[in-house]
Amino acid sequence: MTHDRHVAREPWNNAADDSGFHPSRYDRVSKSLFVYSASRVADLLRDDRLWNRRPEYPPFELMQSGEEDAARKFYEFTLLWPAFSDGAYHERIRPALVEGLAGAVNPRAKQLFAQAAESLIRAGTGRRIDWVGEVVWPYSVRVLSIVFGIDANEAESIARLGAVVLDAIGSPSVDGHRFLSALSAAEELERWLGRSADAPSSRLLAALAHIHEDPELGPAVATALLTQVVTGSIEPLVSGLCVLAERVGNDDLGQLAIAPLREEVFRLATPFRYAARYARCPLEIDGHPVASGDRVVLHLATANMDPSAVPDPTAMRDRGRFPHLAFGLGSHYCPGAGIARAAVDAVLATMKAQAVVFHLDSLERAPGESILRYKVLTGALR
Ligand code: HEM
Repeated sequence: MTHDRHVAREPWNNAADDSGFHPSRYDRVSKSLFVYSASRVADLLRDDRLWNRRPEYPPFELMQSGEEDAARKFYEFTLLWPAFSDGAYHERIRPALVEGLAGAVNPRAKQLFAQAAESLIRAGTGRRIDWVGEVVWPYSVRVLSIVFGIDANEAESIARLGAVVLDAIGSPSVDGHRFLSALSAAEELERWLGRSADAPSSRLLAALAHIHEDPELGPAVATALLTQVVTGSIEPLVSGLCVLAERVGNDDLGQLAIAPLREEVFRLATPFRYAARYARCPLEIDGHPVASGDRVVLHLATANMDPSAVPDPTAMRDRGRFPHLAFGLGSHYCPGAGIARAAVDAVLATMKAQAVVFHLDSLERAPGESILRYKVLTGALR
């Protein structure tokens, strides 16, 4: 009864539109406004009344004392990442990142992606395989090695360190031990970058080396950028390629060209499920009052399934120029989108050329994380 009265007093409602789709919803538990409508999410990603800078620290004092320090230190490190920063600092580091990634999708890189896809798919065809462990993880590591101009073993070790870091970010449960591991993985990445900065083997490493040597930015900022590039490339590529295996059948390969098919894979996967933003001033969204500092969750994954923007959203179709939101939009738009596209294209082209698709045996996803993750994906390529 009390609960009902409380709901009735609220100045807004969470009503669905005519199709049953909720454009937005306020969640009392996380005290966040969730926005789901594709057009609203697209507008808000480009609205400078929202930004990525969280107004206050999370309540680390609720953790055990030894863990509190590690969590706080790790959190401060993440504030240097492009995706969790904004304003003058973000404007300063973003061009360096974009410059470092410029030209990464060149004919030689595409050729190397194609070779990697062909050999892994050929080796995995005709028998039961672990798609993640045998194909997708080694392929994504290879993509990383090509982008950084480093050998596969080195790429494997920084990818593993990135996975440890991401464990502390992606999961909703609070676990001090994970923060300690993430901190030491970040320190290891900093040491690696220190060594690589002396003789950078790619344009991207040269850009990071430049930041490393900049007295106003320095090793911590360079490591933050490195860490975001590593975590931001491997994990979403792995989950995107899992959705590809799960969803792309013979009919899709036969009927759709590579580009629209790849865009559908990204739309359906939307590996980073949402982009969190914070209000810089009081505003109103869909009739919901939003106070300065409030959290607004722009739900990319649900927006990509909004039936008013994407008719028959679970189907795979050529959507023409429909701009899905899997890579975000606006000032934080993914600077690695071109690499991700070229990497997925190489896998689709190989499957098409070898006339194989993945036949699923078993699948398990990790529930409730901010990143789409597959724990198990086994089956056969034939
Ligand atoms: C399937 C692959 C990928 C997906 C789905 C993806 C998705 C995204 C999204 C949604 C954002 C925006 C986050 C926000 O607005 O808060 C983002 C940002 C970013 N991505 Fe990607 N990404 C992918 C691959 C990559 C790759 C391959 C790289 C680098 C080689 C990369 C590097 C970054 C970086 C550095 C940012 C932060 C940009 C900024 O805040 O200015 N991503 N990505």
